[in-house]
Amino acid sequence: MKFLVTGGAGFIGGNFVHYMVNKYPEDMIVNLDKLTYAGNLETCKPVEDKPNYKFVKGDIADREFIFDLFEKEHFDVVVNFAAESHVDRSIEDPEIFVKTNVMGTTTLLDACVKYGIKRYHQVSTDEVYGDLPLDRPDLFFTEETPLHTSSPYSSAKASADLFVLAYHRTYGLPVTISRCSNNYGPYHFPEKLIPLIISRALNDETIPVYGTGENVRDWLHVYDHCTAIDLIVRNGREGEVYNVGGHNERTNLQVVKTVLKALNKPESLITFVEDRKGHDRRYAIDPTKLETELGWQPKYTFDTGIPMTIQWYLDNKEWWENIISGEYQNYFEKMYVEKGRAEK
Ligand code: NAD
Ligand code: TYD
Repeated sequence: MKFLVTGGAGFIGGNFVHYMVNKYPEDMIVNLDKLTYAGNLETCKPVEDKPNYKFVKGDIADREFIFDLFEKEHFDVVVNFAAESHVDRSIEDPEIFVKTNVMGTTTLLDACVKYGIKRYHQVSTDEVYGDLPLDRPDLFFTEETPLHTSSPYSSAKASADLFVLAYHRTYGLPVTISRCSNNYGPYHFPEKLIPLIISRALNDETIPVYGTGENVRDWLHVYDHCTAIDLIVRNGREGEVYNVGGHNERTNLQVVKTVLKALNKPESLITFVEDRKGHDRRYAIDPTKLETELGWQPKYTFDTGIPMTIQWYLDNKEWWENIISGEYQNYFEKMYVEKGRAEK
């Protein structure tokens, strides 16, 4: 089979490309990525010489380019990871989130209808469900939870999900959607919480914690997200949504303290900073449908996945040091230093 994987130079898409290229040598994986600030060809290095892998640079929202690519390549399956993915950036500048996350998705969907694609898979997020209260640990997001978004990022992702489902109902396009909780693992861009803690702590820099640090996220190792998507793409029922998560809820403060302890760094690095606008309180996934229907089970818990991830960052300093020495410096300056949220 021939797969188009979009956003494969980013964090999760990159891990998925590695997983697919190595697991299925008989399949062809075409990685399409615009190489925005979050895309990094270094992430694709481990597979770039494999015969079943090819990289194409381009924008999923560029209609002419996308239709030409589909005309030439005859894809069987499309897995769409490409997105603007950072909530904080979406609060500063929502428009690109509409362009890439919504219009990019509809452009791909149109091409899939025209070229009779056998499966379109949309990589979505639990953030489309909004948030849960902190004092109700009995509540979880199921696939039936209403969409109730908080940020421009999650609103754009939810819009895309609705278009995906509409293309199934209206045009009969064979689609699936996965909605996963927060991921962590190798190749995670250092603007996100876990790689930010690791990279800054290793340099003895302050760790900015938004608000009180009581917000809860449900962390899944990226490898387990990849196995879930693989299963859903191959065996998931058309038109269905599958939640992905492994019941690894932690407050942000617990996450920071766990990583600092593992790195033998002092908690005095923690700096409480101004809260994120509209900050979601708690995310928590109920993955029962994926487990019972498709037999998915995560391989890692937070306690086994975090030490491995820290080790990866220690072993691959060059990968993240190159990022934080470039354009990312300007981002950190703008988002944290100028706002008095953190020291340089
Ligand atoms: P990322 O920001 O690390 O990577 C996104 C990739 O998409 C980058 O390589 C970027 O260059 C590329 N891209 C951006 N705009 C593009 C465009 N217009 N055309 C082509 N390529 C473009 O993001 P990530 O964390 O790997 O997330 C991947 C997907 O998974 C996203 O759709 C996100 O919504 C979803 N998701 C992420 C998480 C998480 O915890 N990170 C959890 C659940 C779902
Ligand atoms: P993030 O990694 O941006 O993922 P998301 O917002 O998609 O869940 O943030 C995870 C949590 O960590 C979120 O509650 C915001 C918080 N956070 C901080 O406290 N400090 C930081 O510097 C960052 C980037 C995030």
